[in-house]
Amino acid sequence: MASPHLPPLAALAPAHVRDLDAYQPGKPIEELERELGITGALKVASNENPLGPSPKALAAVAAALGTIHLYPDAAGHALRQALAAHLDVGPDYLALGAGSNDLLYQLVLALVGPDEEMLTPALGFLSYRLAAAVAGRRFVSTAATPLGADVDALIAGITPRTKLCVIGTPNNPTGAVWTMAEVARVLAALPPTALLVIDEAYYDYAAAWPEVEHVDGLVALRRDPRVVVLRTFSKIYGLAALRVGYAVADPTVIDILGRVVRTFHVGTLAQVAAKAALDDREHVQRSAALGRRGIERLRAEVRGPGVVVYPSLANFALIETGRPAGPLYDALLRRGVIVRPMAAWGLPTCLRVSIAADDQMDRVVGALCDVLA
Ligand SMILES: Cc1ncc(COP(=O)(O)O)c(C=O)c1O
Repeated sequence: MASPHLPPLAALAPAHVRDLDAYQPGKPIEELERELGITGALKVASNENPLGPSPKALAAVAAALGTIHLYPDAAGHALRQALAAHLDVGPDYLALGAGSNDLLYQLVLALVGPDEEMLTPALGFLSYRLAAAVAGRRFVSTAATPLGADVDALIAGITPRTKLCVIGTPNNPTGAVWTMAEVARVLAALPPTALLVIDEAYYDYAAAWPEVEHVDGLVALRRDPRVVVLRTFSKIYGLAALRVGYAVADPTVIDILGRVVRTFHVGTLAQVAAKAALDDREHVQRSAALGRRGIERLRAEVRGPGVVVYPSLANFALIETGRPAGPLYDALLRRGVIVRPMAAWGLPTCLRVSIAADDQMDRVVGALCDVLA
């Protein structure tokens, strides 16, 4: 039966939606194995925790399986109470999200008006741009290098239209961190009604580097109520598939986020797993130590002409390869190692490599040295 056709996209969707490019995630392992006819491929492209989830989280999920016919607790009461105790803040300072990505979108939706803009340094997480673009909001990015954002350039980019200024620390994909003094300078330059979003998706990894000065977003929030801290259970807590993260902010901001949130956005299994994972400090510390060991190995052992492995306080490192990175990415794929090419960030000679388990790092370092020799 012939189906009637919809009018063309131009007649259906507004221009800012037609112009969107969907987020390009790293290549799935199954796809690569199918394409190359190989098995045992290793993905070090999405900054996941190679140690997996905490056994405590797995037990909590198993115990809750019999309740999945019921809607989740929309307020996330138990998880918010646990986070409040863990972070030493009131529960009214906390909002849950389906990953911290969800909270970024909520922040734009709730706070950035049609004539306002999001400001962020270049070489940041690509979702910042997407969150603004999906809402049709202006996105302004200022200078940065793999060693960090240009703080003066960011401050010079602030205008009366700036509503959200977003920084990542440790930053993805560079691994660079911000200091409290740098954050204080940005806050001093922001208009009173603008917010500074500090994305700390890799927060617990940085704790493994106590000798490197880096800001703690909660300390900044205690000094200035315009700070919004975003954290996630997707990285060190090993719960990426469950989609759960949180925002810590002044109760006024949390109240506003509550107005745009989709009902029941964080499922029961995500809530119980996150609460149990939060309790497993041993798993977090082991994962952070693994991250540091991996970064130190990459920096010490990956060599080649023009090659620089940048410092990182996260569970990945940005590598300047000194040549077009596309053919290197392909050569690594043929060795069954999936890394992240950085052309979409405007870094066509760079790769980003996530830290794998210790025994897998032999293979990652070996393959990198091979193709970079
Ligand atoms: C810097 C940064 N922020 C936020 C996220 C979002 O993570 P999620 O939505 O899984 O919490 C990621 C994930 O890669 C990230 O690297």
